[in-house]
Amino acid sequence: MKKFISGSLLLLILILGLSLLVTNGYASPLSKLDAEQVIRGAQLYDDWTKVVVPAPTLTGNQPIWSQQTTSTLGGVDTWRCVSCHGWDYKGSEGAFRSGPNYTGFPGIYAARTKDASELEGILGGANGEAHDFQAYMGDGDVQALVAFIQNGLIEDDEFIDPISLKVLGGDLANGLTLYSGTCAQCHGEDGRQIQFRYEGQNINLGKLAMQDPWRFLHRTRFGTARAPEMVIGANLGWTAQEGRDVLLYAQTLPTGMETANTPSIGEQTPGNAQQPGGPASNIFTGILTALGAIATGLLFAVIIGAILIGIILLVVWFLRGRK
Ligand code: HEC
Ligand code: HEC
Repeated sequence: MKKFISGSLLLLILILGLSLLVTNGYASPLSKLDAEQVIRGAQLYDDWTKVVVPAPTLTGNQPIWSQQTTSTLGGVDTWRCVSCHGWDYKGSEGAFRSGPNYTGFPGIYAARTKDASELEGILGGANGEAHDFQAYMGDGDVQALVAFIQNGLIEDDEFIDPISLKVLGGDLANGLTLYSGTCAQCHGEDGRQIQFRYEGQNINLGKLAMQDPWRFLHRTRFGTARAPEMVIGANLGWTAQEGRDVLLYAQTLPTGMETANTPSIGEQTPGNAQQPGGPASNIFTGILTALGAIATGLLFAVIIGAILIGIILLVVWFLRGRK
């Protein structure tokens, strides 16, 4: 009997251990081995011109760039995969479907099911010489890009509201835990400790999360060559949802608009400056805006009412005077 009990106990422990291993594997989208290659591929996709060794000498715009006239971008940035194919990997069918980044170039999301040799071919200019990026990078980097396209592309569209760009669903409490535990040490509890350049402005993490959730997700999951020291999701085994949870929390951080520069003519970057009377960015300003609208409406009604009563009084006074 004793033997039976200890035997089944051992079996139970074995099963528990095995199931832990299995669920762990399912919880993370990438195995440790793949992760390294996919991360490199993602950073190459972000800006291979800053990642490949030796650094390439590039002059002017990427040749394909001249096929479009809509984007105002120019120079070395036009050689980056992301400039044409987007942070959401959907090209002109995704977030770049309008605005200054619109080029009309396609996305790469559908290409994730292509086999490695075909993808290598595309990156080697098989469909057009102008798309030959192999000329600038080693085989290892081409393979990393292929690994990223096959295993790293995550579809977030159904989890991001297309108008407000806010995360739909998601676990805010989990986002807070992950952010405080891994990100706050560098970015600060309020996300203001590090500033980024974004379309000619200095912005913080909270504003980036609101302004470009896809860039936030790509760099949170895979990092950026600009910050090799950064802790990143793919290395922590984060699921796609955990990335979105952190984004959801980051969207509640101050956007920096509260301490906006006082307008001074001549020192403002034209165009992108936030208008103080702009659309409500959270529920409180939303309620304030609504209350403001109601108050204005009420005031208007009172004034109109007073004018009407005044006119009636005048008419009555006039009629009485004639009697
Ligand atoms: C200047 C714009 C531009 C840049 C930069 C660029 N591409 Fe492309 N890419 C295109 C265009 C246009 C097509 C579609 C026509 C073609 O296949 O040449 C395309 C096609 C692709 C496809 C095939 C998509 C499909 O569904 O068949 C993949 C994959 C791809 N690019 C990956 C990359 C990667 C990775 C990089 C960076 C190393 C990159 N591209 C850089 C413009 C660009
Ligand atoms: C060890 C310090 C460190 C940690 C930890 C860290 N970051 Fe960063 N992060 C940086 C630095 C440095 C930059 C690059 C700033 C720049 O672009 O010059 C950066 C950049 C970013 C960017 C890209 C900003 C852009 O310009 O697009 C995002 C998004 C980001 N971090 C999110 C996070 C998140 C989410 C976490 C937690 C999982 C995190 N970071 C943890 C240091 C850190």
